[in-house]
Amino acid sequence: MRESWVNYAERIGSDLHLELSAPGGKRAALIGALREAVRSGRLAPGTRLPPYRSLAADLGVARNTVADAYAELVAEGWLTARQGAGTHVAERTRPLHPAVHKKAPAPDPCARAPRHGRSPRHDLRQGTPDVSAFPRPAWLASYRRALSQAPNEVFGPGDPAGRPELRAALAAYLARARGVRTEPHRIVVCSGFAHALRLLFGGGGGNRDGGRQVLRGPLAVEAYGLPFHRELLAAEGVRTVPLPLDEHGALVDRLTRERAVLLTPAHQFPTGGPLHAERRAAVVDWARARGAVVLEDDYDGEFRYDRRPVGALQSLDPERVILIGSVSKSLSPAVRLGWMVLPERYVGDVLAAKGEREAWASVPDQLALADLIVSGSYDRHVRRMRQRYRGRRDRLVAALAERAPHIQVSGVAAGLHAVLRLPPGTERSAVEAAVRQGVALDGLAEFRHPDTDMAAHDGLVVGYATPSEHAYGAAVEALCGALAPGGTRVS
Ligand SMILES: Cc1ncc(COP(=O)(O)O)c(C=O)c1O
Repeated sequence: MRESWVNYAERIGSDLHLELSAPGGKRAALIGALREAVRSGRLAPGTRLPPYRSLAADLGVARNTVADAYAELVAEGWLTARQGAGTHVAERTRPLHPAVHKKAPAPDPCARAPRHGRSPRHDLRQGTPDVSAFPRPAWLASYRRALSQAPNEVFGPGDPAGRPELRAALAAYLARARGVRTEPHRIVVCSGFAHALRLLFGGGGGNRDGGRQVLRGPLAVEAYGLPFHRELLAAEGVRTVPLPLDEHGALVDRLTRERAVLLTPAHQFPTGGPLHAERRAAVVDWARARGAVVLEDDYDGEFRYDRRPVGALQSLDPERVILIGSVSKSLSPAVRLGWMVLPERYVGDVLAAKGEREAWASVPDQLALADLIVSGSYDRHVRRMRQRYRGRRDRLVAALAERAPHIQVSGVAAGLHAVLRLPPGTERSAVEAAVRQGVALDGLAEFRHPDTDMAAHDGLVVGYATPSEHAYGAAVEALCGALAPGGTRVS
């Protein structure tokens, strides 16, 4: 039976690809194809299906065949139909595991895809800023200004280093806001932290000879960190060696023969403290002595509330530290723009790893971000969000102090998440108690390096940025309900 692209963009705004290849007649084939499209996630919950007549015309089947197929799928619960509103994919059909045809990529805990079949009622997982606060008018204004002034070359193949306007804007901004010491030619634009890791350790795959590694393992990492990054490195063949942590950050005096170390100095991820000043100096001394390099993940450096901002470690030695940042926390993880501030000697290799033309970071988006920064809108947004997140943190801390006073809250001087310390052996039951209240969050165990021998800490990582402003109070209420004395048991 023929394959068809059904274009109903004029009415509905999307295309639907259905392959009617199953045996057993057109009706059965159509039912099978639609069911599969919904099950695999290709047709998302809530998607409106084409009217009978247009789908029938495109597939070359009778109108009744489509009507029957829809009716059958409504009866099975895959679709919903309301008089006058058309036929939609039912909300509860979101697949648990979207179909994968290739090797599954490591899960990205920064991604907010629902993990339990449907969106949690209260999403307190770390990783995402309040996306309802994306500065749409400012971004639109910057985009409009940037595009109206852009030379035509902007719409041709991009320079892999990034647009000069953005590199200049970042150099000035990072110097001003984060104390970074650099010049525009040492900044390479990328699509975020994960991309930077791939460029540094995997050669990026962008160059014709299959990629050249800029750095090699073994790479020391903090004993608690994002599993996604460890898995990404493992996929590139890089062995990661866990460094234990204490209340002053990573024990950098344990560094030995590694060639590089990855740290979150401004705000240890996820436990929350800054790296102690003596250790900042010590890790740079180690890198100098060993000819090694420090990777500084500056993922939420703008969001510091209580003390004076902790500046970038990079300023201690711009020739020994690679600072990596992105807009994933400050603006949105969907924008996919980040930067690497490089020691002079790595610039050529990183550019070689990126390839001959920009293949990841949209050039018009780069110009818009440059305008956002230069116009002051980026700072205004960050300041507004800092106030909002500080307010949320304060509400969380106050609510827990009142309702769950046995729980110690830590790591809250900065960032978009808090760590709730729990008595040993209670983490799993606390996560389960939260789930029963409709709250999604992670336990600290999720972030622990599998090879570390440091003592495990029980705790919950509570992301307070994700809910929209109106949903936050209910989320905190539900969390407190789960953690109130007696709510968690040793398991
Ligand atoms: C520890 C950490 N590093 C870096 C990032 C940023 O990653 P990316 O720039 O790839 O979105 C995140 C998530 O936002 C993070 O949690």
